Amino acid sequence: MNTRVLTGITTSGTPHLGNYVGAIRPAIQASLEKNVDAFFFLADYHALIKCEDADRIARSRLEIAATWLASGLDPARVTFYRQSDVPEIPELCWMLTCVTAKGLMNRAHAYKASVDQNIAKSVEPDDGINMGLFSYPILMAADILMFNAHKVPVGRDQTQHLEMARDIAQRFNHLYGQGKDFFVLPEAVIAEDVATLPGLDGRKMSKSYNNTVPLFEGGSRALKSTVAKIVTDSRGPGEPKDAEASHLYLIYKAFASSAETAEFRQALAAGMGWGDAKQKLCERIEQELGPKRDDYESLMANPNRIEEILQEGARKARAIATPFIQELRQAVGLRTLITETKSSAAKQAKSGGKGARFVSFRDDAGQFRFRFIGMDGAEIFSSIAYADPKMAGAAMRALQGGDFEAMLTLSGELDFSLTLEGSIVASGVTSVSSAQRAERIEALRAALSPTE
Ligand code: TRP
Repeated sequence: MNTRVLTGITTSGTPHLGNYVGAIRPAIQASLEKNVDAFFFLADYHALIKCEDADRIARSRLEIAATWLASGLDPARVTFYRQSDVPEIPELCWMLTCVTAKGLMNRAHAYKASVDQNIAKSVEPDDGINMGLFSYPILMAADILMFNAHKVPVGRDQTQHLEMARDIAQRFNHLYGQGKDFFVLPEAVIAEDVATLPGLDGRKMSKSYNNTVPLFEGGSRALKSTVAKIVTDSRGPGEPKDAEASHLYLIYKAFASSAETAEFRQALAAGMGWGDAKQKLCERIEQELGPKRDDYESLMANPNRIEEILQEGARKARAIATPFIQELRQAVGLRTLITETKSSAAKQAKSGGKGARFVSFRDDAGQFRFRFIGMDGAEIFSSIAYADPKMAGAAMRALQGGDFEAMLTLSGELDFSLTLEGSIVASGVTSVSSAQRAERIEALRAALSPTE
């Protein structure tokens, strides 16, 4: 199995240079590696926790999707979807919520930080804190565990959330697994070699410090005018400057090759003025981002295209999530009543009962066929056509007396067929989910295997 790499991007802001260098660019690079299945999603349910401005959320989902696509994400290679298009995620979130100790959430850094701020302000400890913030780590665990991700690239501030996801997964496995592990225990991947960009004021570039350089929005003009605001020291042109101590240099370094970086450093030491340095920085950033910005703009002008890509991503994601959540529902006891009737149908068929049964018939062309009908009256499979009714009868008996496992062939997620002496004699009705197919096969196995 390939390594599954998964990461989410909260859709509450407009991407800036720090996001690009720290998350987007390395994640896209990782998605190109061999033996990796990448899952990147827009964490729009998470966005609701901290942003009540509906238009902002809507705009941010669009901008972030366009940004990732323009930055080189290949939706044919990566499963790229919106969290809110996969209803299995909030369903899993609830199952996990019910096995998570409240005490564990009390210890979450993000929640504790808000409480500490309230205490410092001498207001109620939980003032202004919603339940979304409190159980944020459980939703994040559901994001990760839904797809059994092995590796989760995140910022250092998210390590505790990954530990919590592992705790929660273990607890669920222990309570419901009966020796089987439903969930892989995910690992955080904190990139050591990826730069944390300084913002305009030298602190980490972050929306919350309001010190960001926009990535694509506003075009090259916005880039220039923001770079102009990067704080520098007061040394004038001609005076030697210490590159390492300058934010400008650190940003340059994140875009340039090591040779270019060395040259930039020397130019500063030799007295390059800050104005010139800023101009060089803009040119270097433009070289990488200019063509991508063109793609960004054409995507932003065509949101229908983005919607299609995301819908296709949701379809791919749900092809995994739907059967998995069925399995989990079974595990916790949310079982369909039909499943139980079907297996008793199988037992009845075994003991010669009337429930599940073979039915022979002549088709429109006058050929002889048979089908197998489940307890609920629905067809489970039908045979090929035989010219001779005796041949049809013989095939029917051979299926009943044969080695079921040897006769069964699964195809894709939803189909199956039964084979005798190397040729297909019957094809299953296509199921709506792999869980439904599993139920049908279970019923057949019981009905067709010889009675002990
Ligand atoms: N909490 C992450 C952040 O703020 C975003 C996120 C949500 C996420 N769900 C995730 C990241 C799952 C990785 C995996 O950065």
